[in-house]
Amino acid sequence: MVRLCKDYIRPFVGEDELNNIAPMVSAAFNLLHERSGPGADYLGWIDLPVNFDRDELERIKSTAGKIRSMCDVFVIIGIGGSYLGSRAVIEFIKSEMYNRLGDSPEIYFAGNNISPVAMANILRLCRGRRVCINVISKSGTTTEPAIAFRVFRELLEETWGEEGARERIFVTTDRNEGNLRKFAEQKGYTTFTIPADIGGRYSVLSPVGLLPIAVAGLDIDELIAGAAQARLAFSDPDPAKNDSLCYAALRNILYRKGRVTEILVVYEQYMQMLCEWYKQLFGESEGKDGKGIYPSSVIYTTDLHSLGQYIQDGMRNQFETVLWVKEPDVDLAIPDDPGNIDGLGFLSGRSLAYVNQMAMKGTLLAHVDGGVPNLVIEIDKRDERSLGGLIYFFELACGVSGYLLGVNPFDQPGVEKYKKNMFALLGKPGFESRKKELEGRIR
Ligand code: PA5
Repeated sequence: MVRLCKDYIRPFVGEDELNNIAPMVSAAFNLLHERSGPGADYLGWIDLPVNFDRDELERIKSTAGKIRSMCDVFVIIGIGGSYLGSRAVIEFIKSEMYNRLGDSPEIYFAGNNISPVAMANILRLCRGRRVCINVISKSGTTTEPAIAFRVFRELLEETWGEEGARERIFVTTDRNEGNLRKFAEQKGYTTFTIPADIGGRYSVLSPVGLLPIAVAGLDIDELIAGAAQARLAFSDPDPAKNDSLCYAALRNILYRKGRVTEILVVYEQYMQMLCEWYKQLFGESEGKDGKGIYPSSVIYTTDLHSLGQYIQDGMRNQFETVLWVKEPDVDLAIPDDPGNIDGLGFLSGRSLAYVNQMAMKGTLLAHVDGGVPNLVIEIDKRDERSLGGLIYFFELACGVSGYLLGVNPFDQPGVEKYKKNMFALLGKPGFESRKKELEGRIR
């Protein structure tokens, strides 16, 4: 299960402060569960681990099996919440190197930027190989994945013809909304439905995340079971008995004391995309109305040799949240060298996981001594069940954090601003006057 360790927060937050905020945290939790707060139409994620379409789940598993047998390369097209969750889960369980370790199919993510280099590279990797794609967009109108879909559709149709391409294109979108649904129906593609009450960044346990994760060969039943377990474990409205709420409470107390940046700290490269998922979840949910904790992340010990100096000694406006997996599933012993010219004799035969753990403990204490509050979130294992629990832990803490800040954690109005300017500059019909205004300002 997911545990929050508060031992290193004591010098920064008193027990009385936690007691004082507890009624507000419970009220925020109740608001979520009674579905009476802002964004109440997007709370499907609360019960999703126990309340999902079981037929759709079976269809996801059988389609994933079919995709695994019919392709060498699987391209997932989506941006934001439509790709970060699945990528985080796949890399967490299989490690970031999975495409190089002989697993099949290889999996690539496209349509999460407008980089010609990124697109050209993935196309190169696809040429001459058996390719399937999963296009994911809740709104069915997002520009980045829509462009990528055009590109990959052309590749598939050129290679396999319209009929062959149809068998290789899988679409995940809203039941009714958006151009993608209309297009998929016209073309007869296999589709999966994103429940209307689940927003992008809360959608990893819906078909958005589950199909790609199942294609990667991971156990989606276990992922859901872990989230269901967490839903039960974190069902008490009292933050003293609920670590997810306690995490939300501590974040809010720290924020009010000027700790406006949270640094998610991990010690394994395979957690990098999980950090990206966390950043989107909290950044898009809290950052609005001139408020919000800025979510950032580091990978130690790598970043101790770049950002470590700043975190140890720089401006004191941040706190760290260390994410730790208790039982390492892979380990290596450091070789013995009787010559000991490198002076590492004291580490001969030591496990690398143990050394990493000592680095974590030493860093944590050094940063606390340097004035950086540290929280630790621990899960037992690097497996689907533990990760499902962690996902739910963060989703709940995020919803409660948003309500504590007094914002709607389930909308993202600010994201529209860049889109309107981009459309205007690109000459989209309907944006003529904005185009004129922007062109007058661009030097
Ligand atoms: O959390 C969100 O709602 C957003 O980040 C979306 O996931 C992102 O903008 C992609 O939207 P869509 O799935 O509609 O293409």
